[in-house]
Amino acid sequence: MDDGGRTAEVDVNAAGSRSSVTVPRPRVLSGIAATGRLHIGNYMGAIRPWTEQQEQRDNFFFIADLHALTIPETVRPADLRARVLEIAGLFIACGIDPERSVIFLQSQVPAHAVLGWIFDCVTPVSWLERMTQFRSKSQTTSPSAGLLTYPALQAADILLYQANYVPVGDDQRQHIELARDIAHRFNNLFGELFVVPEALVPSSGARVMGLDDPTVKMSKSLAETRDGHAIGLLDPPEKVRRAVMRAVTDSGSEVPVSGASPGVANLLTLYQVLSGSDRQEVLDRFGGQQYSVLKREVADIATEALAAIQRRYAEIRGDPVYLDGLLASGAARANTVAERTLDSAKRRVGLA
Ligand code: ADP
Ligand code: TRP
Repeated sequence: MDDGGRTAEVDVNAAGSRSSVTVPRPRVLSGIAATGRLHIGNYMGAIRPWTEQQEQRDNFFFIADLHALTIPETVRPADLRARVLEIAGLFIACGIDPERSVIFLQSQVPAHAVLGWIFDCVTPVSWLERMTQFRSKSQTTSPSAGLLTYPALQAADILLYQANYVPVGDDQRQHIELARDIAHRFNNLFGELFVVPEALVPSSGARVMGLDDPTVKMSKSLAETRDGHAIGLLDPPEKVRRAVMRAVTDSGSEVPVSGASPGVANLLTLYQVLSGSDRQEVLDRFGGQQYSVLKREVADIATEALAAIQRRYAEIRGDPVYLDGLLASGAARANTVAERTLDSAKRRVGLA
């Protein structure tokens, strides 16, 4: 059966006999909009979870460059290509293994735009207007139609691959919920076709807050204009250290063992995820310590983690043709899967 490499040989006998059975690997898909430079929130909420269990899953990770056009004020055409290549390089530098995961660019798989249009036509405007991301982004800009229909294109991204799981940070839950609603609606209107996906949100690090303001989520767009807001994955160590040491906490001076304020809780979470500890271990270590001690240790562990990523990134970008080749083969593999689903969807709605 042609399943696009979706099955895995799994040993089913705990006693270690050689009997095995072929079971489908769960398909995992996720993406990041090419709207800016990646930060440690993107890493902790999304990319790092993607790197886990790559062998046991059938993975598709992509750069949402079509989505990057939805706020034209934020991405200059001349910058988009560089951003895309930077993100692709960082996927690999952060541990996505291109042998085990398909990495591709959304715009190189035309089926996304076509299925996105079909979904625009089955999605009530009221569902789209309810999205909190649309509501907040449309307050600051005069919203484009693309900003409103953004989540219908996101649903197409996911459903084209019949993904079982979508690993994302906390802020994307509502969009995945909408993708599920669109899948149900299409299946009800035109007959069962799409797998209804589930969001996978990590238990810690799913919502890293801004260092300069722990009441707002760390984001690519704020990082662009506010120094000290984010830890960029490609930031030099001095910049990271400065941002962490200046991170907003509260009027206290010692880390409490419970009830930490948002700024302190955010630093504890950064340390927890980067050190691979659990919360109790982190509280045991820092409870009663000065904030400056916690900050110094967060700065140390963050610069160390980033140094490893930045070393690998430099190697990848040192080869001028490597990423282009990788994205071309990723697009070929993605197109094969996506076109198969699009053909079925077109038949269902009467276009083929
Ligand atoms: P941003 O808001 O910085 O532009 P995106 O919306 O492109 O980031 O998000 C890309 C992925 O990173 C998504 O899965 C999102 O949930 C996750 N993510 C974004 N910001 C954070 C954050 N501050 N903490 C944890 N995860 C995040
Ligand atoms: N909306 C996501 C973000 O802001 C990017 C994205 C686009 C995505 N399509 C997706 C995430 C499909 C998961 C699955 O980062």
